[in-house]
Amino acid sequence: MTNADLIALAREMTLHSYAPYSHFHVGAALLCRDGRVYTGCNIENAAFGPTVCAERVAFFSAVRDGARDFERIAIVGGEEGRITSFTPPCGVCRQVMREFCRDDFTVVLSDGREIREFPLAALLPQSFSPADLGKE
Ligand code: THU
Repeated sequence: MTNADLIALAREMTLHSYAPYSHFHVGAALLCRDGRVYTGCNIENAAFGPTVCAERVAFFSAVRDGARDFERIAIVGGEEGRITSFTPPCGVCRQVMREFCRDDFTVVLSDGREIREFPLAALLPQSFSPADLGKE
C-alpha cells in the first residue's frame, strides 16, 4: 500500500464526513502492519464537545477489531471536502496515536498535490506515553 493509495482512501472517506457546523470535511486511512486498513471521518455534534476527529474514528475502529500494530496514517481535509492545504492532526489525536504507536509511526499528509511524511516523534516530542506509567 503506497502513500498515494492511502491518501486516496482518506480522500474517499471525506465523503462520509458529518460536519454541518465547521463544514470542514476530514478523512483518514490507518494502515496496520498486517496490511489491514481502517478508515474514519470526522463526526460533529450540535453540543460541539462530543465531536470526534477522523483519525480517532479510524484508530478506535481498528482497536475495536483487535488491531494494535500500526504503520502509517494518511489524513486529508478541507472546507466542504475541497483539499487545498495540509490538515495536520490535532493534539488530542496525536496523543491517541502515541498510546498505540512507536516514535517511528508515520503521519502522511497531502494538500491534493504534494504528499509529506512526518514521524510521530516530530509531531509530539517529549510525549507522555504508556511508558510513563510503566506500561511499555
Ligand atoms: N478535525 C479532524 O477530523 N481531524 C483533525 O486532526 C483536525 C480537525 C475535524 C474536527 C472538526 O469536525 C473539524 O475538523 C473542524 O475542526
